[in-house]
Amino acid sequence: MNQQAQTFGIGEDVDSWKTVMLIYNSALKEVGTKLEILNDEFQHVHQYNPIEYIKSRIKSPESIVKKLKRHGCESTISNMTEYINDIAGIRIVCSFISDIYRMAEMIGRQNDLTVVSVKDYIKHPKRSGYKSYHMLVTIPIFLSDRVIDTKVEIQIRTIAMDFWASLEHKIYYKFEGNAPEYISQELRECSGMISMLDAKMLSLNEAVGKTKDEKK
Ligand code: GTP
Ligand code: MG
Repeated sequence: MNQQAQTFGIGEDVDSWKTVMLIYNSALKEVGTKLEILNDEFQHVHQYNPIEYIKSRIKSPESIVKKLKRHGCESTISNMTEYINDIAGIRIVCSFISDIYRMAEMIGRQNDLTVVSVKDYIKHPKRSGYKSYHMLVTIPIFLSDRVIDTKVEIQIRTIAMDFWASLEHKIYYKFEGNAPEYISQELRECSGMISMLDAKMLSLNEAVGKTKDEKK
């Protein structure tokens, strides 16, 4: 059992729910600040921002309960902290595919952050056509009397991938997950177009980089 489950398994009342939420919120702040620092440093060294924008969110209580039900788990705070990895979620939207791997590497090198798992849906897209780079990390949150390693799900993607994922999510939501096959097929095709666009933008950027170097 991890530290969180041990801490939150005891006395599950409103108070501990509030404590859990405070901890997840703190984890979002910590990781958010880290990312901003990395972006600022990158800008300082390379005169270039790998991050277009960052979005973060805490999973709603309704979605937490729904997900636990889906896993066949009782809605308890200990189940929630143990089995749900995306209560605190951060999405980093980058300019180019190369920035995604650069960011992931920089995150991995942070000593006070532990990378629990990585899912590369860019190299291995989901059947839906979904592409993104996922990292599950833990960050220590220092309270007055204890330290709690807290999970944060980081999704890193390009603007184009984010555009696709947002719209696909909206369309799928309308069909409650049962979209007709031709819609799924077309969404997969759109995902292919997005990849072409990302590849084109990356090569354009590399070409611009080369002309700049030649001028130096
Ligand atoms: P969830 O139970 O959905 O959180 O999935 P998981 O625990 O198996 O993890 P996974 O890495 O597959 O997905 C985590 C998150 O990625 C989801 O909550 C979504 O935000 C996003 N995601 C995964 N698959 C898709 C997809 O097909 N379409 C869109 N739009 N988003 C997706
Ligand atoms: Mg999720």
